[in-house]
Amino acid sequence: MDTPLVRVGVIGVGNCARALLEGTAHYRSASGSPAGLMFPEVGPYGAGALEPVAAWDVDVEKVGKDLWTARAAGQNLPVGIGGDLLPVGADVRVLRAPTLDGAGARYRERVTVAGDSAGDRAGTVAQVRAAKVDVLLNYLPVGSQEATEWWAGVALEAGVGFVNNVPVFIARRDEWRDRFRAAGLPLIGDDIKSQLGATYLHRVLVRAFSDRGITLDRTYQLNVGGNMDFYNMLERDRLASKRESKTSAVTDAYDGELGGDDVHIGPSDYVRFLGDTKKAFIRCEGRGFGGAPIEMEIQLTVPDSPNSAGVVIDAARIAKLAMDRGDTAVDEWVSAWLFKAPPRAVAQESDQIARERLVRWIGGGAGR
Ligand SMILES: NC(=O)c1ccc[n+]([C@@H]2O[C@H](COP(=O)([O-])OP(=O)(O)OC[C@H]3O[C@@H](n4cnc5c(N)ncnc54)[C@H](O)[C@@H]3O)[C@@H](O)[C@H]2O)c1
Repeated sequence: MDTPLVRVGVIGVGNCARALLEGTAHYRSASGSPAGLMFPEVGPYGAGALEPVAAWDVDVEKVGKDLWTARAAGQNLPVGIGGDLLPVGADVRVLRAPTLDGAGARYRERVTVAGDSAGDRAGTVAQVRAAKVDVLLNYLPVGSQEATEWWAGVALEAGVGFVNNVPVFIARRDEWRDRFRAAGLPLIGDDIKSQLGATYLHRVLVRAFSDRGITLDRTYQLNVGGNMDFYNMLERDRLASKRESKTSAVTDAYDGELGGDDVHIGPSDYVRFLGDTKKAFIRCEGRGFGGAPIEMEIQLTVPDSPNSAGVVIDAARIAKLAMDRGDTAVDEWVSAWLFKAPPRAVAQESDQIARERLVRWIGGGAGR
């Protein structure tokens, strides 16, 4: 019997896409080892189930190349995924995407855009349909508001699921949710909450403060890295929704109130030699029994892009399973567990509750 696959279209062939392709190759060849996975199986879909069938970018170093070659082209960096990797996506040619607001000023210092284009909506919908995409994965750079909305519209028109990995609010907004719900399509997002990243860890910490009766007075989370995502984020004008997404992910996990001046969370700087390694510095200041002070400082070092891929392979497989079952309402719980800025209705649920509901749903379709 053929292994069931999830046919994905990749929008933006950067480091996250590279980690996704190499991770897929790794799990296809890892002879069944589930190490490093949250969900070895999602229904019939194993960890190697994602099959890229279409891809789009704007970088001259990537457009026109086969996807496996493009994953290592341009400014993409080694992402540290090991094993004997057989190419994934080698038969897929990277197509020219509309530029819109995708490539910002910092980007253009290092990347040559293959001729600006406003996009041909009908033509792109036809490409998505011709490739028989199940789910589109949005990996555009931070600040791509217009381009992300354009692609969400393409997903709707083509009748495919949409996983919004970037900090542009789509799944969080009712108007988009309503349109996807009416079409019976999953909408998962927004902004990947990395597998074990700064957001998840920071949420665990502030929840511990809440649960143990400690008042959290002030907290910060400073993040540095050396990949193109961090370079692009030096353009501060592109960061508003990234800051909002990261900040609300942490404040939503704390039961008390935190003043705006008492929380500082965001991408902080670009340090080239770090490459795809990301470092996060987290500090929490609070008061415990009788007002006695408590301070906590944590430093986290993680591979940035694989940390996102471990989440996206779950989101894409769950999106496909939801379509198979005709039950896409689960997208809110996937978003709550796997993304920083899920729909408001579930944003304040604890990670544990979101995860338990999801595990039950995957196991048998019940659980909401
Ligand atoms: N752990 C993580 O890495 C993580 C976590 C949360 C969110 N994200 C988000 O995921 C997104 C992708 O991250 P990345 O590290 O792969 O970034 P990247 O900069 O390596 O890749 C972005 C890709 O998009 C392409 N691009 C630019 N404009 C485009 C356009 N208009 N149309 C199509 N392609 C275009 C670029 O050429 C590049 O190949 C970013 O928004 C990032 O913030 C990543």
